[in-house]
Amino acid sequence: MNKIIVAIDGYSSCGKSTIAKELAKYAGYIYVDTGAMYRAIGLYTLRNGLTDEASIIQALPQIQVGFIQAGGAQHVTLNGEDVESQIRTLEVGNRASQVSQIKEVRAFLVAQQQAMGKDKGIVMDGRDIGTVVFPKAELKLFLTASPEVRAQRRFDELVEKGEKPDYNAVLADVNDRDYRDTHRAESPLRQAEDAIVVDNSHMTREEQMQVIYDYFNRFK
Ligand code: DC
Repeated sequence: MNKIIVAIDGYSSCGKSTIAKELAKYAGYIYVDTGAMYRAIGLYTLRNGLTDEASIIQALPQIQVGFIQAGGAQHVTLNGEDVESQIRTLEVGNRASQVSQIKEVRAFLVAQQQAMGKDKGIVMDGRDIGTVVFPKAELKLFLTASPEVRAQRRFDELVEKGEKPDYNAVLADVNDRDYRDTHRAESPLRQAEDAIVVDNSHMTREEQMQVIYDYFNRFK
């Protein structure tokens, strides 16, 4: 079987990374979580007190984002430091959403993402993978779920991490992020014309993976 590129896009908290990870494992492919890359830059700007666009753009040459394998999982690194646990907070998520609106930040990361896919055999998830990063990806999936279902999933994740979230605040955050992701001037989240839409609001994880494996196996 020739290796392909699988592009997975969709709204925040609709399970993209879980699905992408499982599909990569099933296929024996590399997995890349591009949201983690935007989050790493968001974390850098928070740590260094960079708020205006010009200083963020100026700092880009000093920022190295990478991935390492740690305990069987993929962790994102920022200038060599494993920052996986620091990037999964609401604060960093919001900052990532803000920095992802800067054209130069996107160009900086898109070039790295395209280089990672040059040999194919990759599952990449994000917002612009099927539209900008790999417009010629063989398989494009666009995941959706209702905002309420996504807010509940995000709420459960935060509780599991020991945080004490307020459901309505999490829902408002999901809606805000959707709005920003779909309305930004640079590479807004949109479904590629040739993407397959998977609405997983009412699917179990197993049902959803079966649907996705079936699409993938069409390339065998
Ligand atoms: O998927 P996530 O929540 O980890 O992504 C964090 C933020 O990064 C999200 O608000 C949108 C942005 N993002 C993006 O603009 N493009 C991508 N390819 C991936 C994420």
